[in-house]
Amino acid sequence: MCGIVGYVGAREAAPIILQGLQRLEYRGYDSAGLAVLAQDGTLHVRRAAGKLSQLMALVAASGNGSGTPEPVRGTLGIGHTRWATHGPPSERNAHPHCSVDRQFVLVQNGIVENFLELRRRLQAEGYPFHSDTDTEVIVHLIHYHFHNGCRGDWEWAVRCALGELQGPSAIVVLNRAQPDRLIAARLGNAGGVVIGLGQEETYVASDIPAILHHTRHMVFLDNRQMAVVTRDGAHYTDLAGRPVARQAIHIDWDLATAEKGTYVHYMQKEIYEQGRSLTDTLRGRLDFEHGRVVLDSLNLSAAQVQALERVTIVACGTSYYAGLLGKHYIERLARLPVEVDYASEFRYREPVIGPGHLALAITQSGETVDTLAALEEAQAQGAFTAAIVNVVGSQAARLCDGVIYMQAGPEIGVASTKAFTASAVDLLLLAIYLGQARGLLSASAVMTLLEELSRLPGLAGELLEAAWQGSYYRELAGRFAHYQHFLYLGRGLNYPIAREGALKLKEISYIHAEGYPAGEMKHGPIALIDHQMPTMVIAPRDRVYDKMISQVEQVKARGGTVLAVAEAGDPILAEKADFLLPVPPSHELLAPILAVLPLQLFAYEVAVHRGVDVDKPRNLAKSVTVE
Ligand code: F6R
Repeated sequence: MCGIVGYVGAREAAPIILQGLQRLEYRGYDSAGLAVLAQDGTLHVRRAAGKLSQLMALVAASGNGSGTPEPVRGTLGIGHTRWATHGPPSERNAHPHCSVDRQFVLVQNGIVENFLELRRRLQAEGYPFHSDTDTEVIVHLIHYHFHNGCRGDWEWAVRCALGELQGPSAIVVLNRAQPDRLIAARLGNAGGVVIGLGQEETYVASDIPAILHHTRHMVFLDNRQMAVVTRDGAHYTDLAGRPVARQAIHIDWDLATAEKGTYVHYMQKEIYEQGRSLTDTLRGRLDFEHGRVVLDSLNLSAAQVQALERVTIVACGTSYYAGLLGKHYIERLARLPVEVDYASEFRYREPVIGPGHLALAITQSGETVDTLAALEEAQAQGAFTAAIVNVVGSQAARLCDGVIYMQAGPEIGVASTKAFTASAVDLLLLAIYLGQARGLLSASAVMTLLEELSRLPGLAGELLEAAWQGSYYRELAGRFAHYQHFLYLGRGLNYPIAREGALKLKEISYIHAEGYPAGEMKHGPIALIDHQMPTMVIAPRDRVYDKMISQVEQVKARGGTVLAVAEAGDPILAEKADFLLPVPPSHELLAPILAVLPLQLFAYEVAVHRGVDVDKPRNLAKSVTVE
């Protein structure tokens, strides 16, 4: 949450920072700001409430006669796009925040949990506060330590200030007295700090897409690390001041996948590119020659698999729903008991976990604070930890004993789509891998699954192409966009899809939607059914198909409207349901991955119909790095 960008080099910093912030706006869009420093020490700070466009207008107006007199010029700078935690979205609460003498200027991502106590102490020392944020205490603390104990050494002042903070923080600071460098630091799981190494210019960002246009050589800061960033690169230390060696990673993401191109929204693009992203997810994983799944980076030896007693999946939101599907896959194919837990619940329970357990995190960003905390807890208890993660170099990827990369490319739309289908495929691959290593799957069973998996991108592409060519989903959205409530029902493998479909609808269209296990409907929710509450059923022809048909009958008998995600040409549902959302027939285990696609399309079109800014739904942000 919140996006940070920094630049040191020879070019004008403001356009680079604004462009970077544009690519990070999915992390927060309550307010934005930047600070740019000229070589002569002239400091320009601009901040604006609302979306980034407000800040861009302010910067553009600077020096052109309509805004502030001086243009925003300088070759070093920092910028921020905010997801509000402390204090409402307003100009006064926008970052950057300045020290009392405007020597230090800072942007932060994270939360200072002890900010009230620090604020009181600093106020007693005479520091005036100009915002309601927790962030402002950090810049005053730096100033305080700079003048008290650090003898004018600002690197140490930053370390001392960070040493006083409770809670996770990622910061970038500039010092007017040293216009050739920035300091970036990471404390706890506050979201990424990426240093991008260019030709005589260096970048800092909270996430890769912000700087991918400038460089592919990136260094990811670990917890409690700091970088002094100059145009020649960066010098890394820990918070005790000891030098640390950091290797740059080459990021090979396709630039076009980080751009919207001709699509209206990132979410739309990410939905429609799932034929390709699934191909990438499978790339290098299906070994037909040896009849096996390749998951080398999981680092789980055959002996370790044999010793496994159970799997605990921890995740949040959409990733949690992927985990619910993974439970089906792993229990069915590998016969291991699987528990799926919200990471935010797991971390504060006293979970029963330890050696012999696989703690598996699912996280697109690799930076979700609850998921990271759950992993740390599992690791402390002696479990083998692994993560299914999309962002290379993210904290989850670095923390775990093993990793499975989603290979979905950057996901920028706030509502997760292609990361869900990629995680689901990875979970199926993992289930096959574990089942085979445990001697539970015959060679022909594995071969069948590999073949079915290899057909999946084509089937997804077919479904999406048909949707793109037609106007069916737009029309359907037109009919249903005015409803206030929806019920989503699924059973077995498709119960998680009902949950995910409902989440997609509510988060981008603001329609209340509940995902429910179909068999539970008659234990309560059936009381809600009437002509004002449409029901979406997910009913491919699997082993619980007949039971889903009974649910449809029950809804219809009570005057409800039924939309059914069903196999194309299903004559029974064609007759019984009011509207069909067709999916191509597929293997039972793959059907849920296809079934989610119409639900994504439906949610997207309903939201567009209702005029919601789909890529920036209210109150949400992409990487949830605060509790
Ligand atoms: C919903 C959505 C969120 C995320 C959740 C976890 O569309 O995107 O529910 O799935 O915040 O994020 P990651 O997977 O990055 O840990």
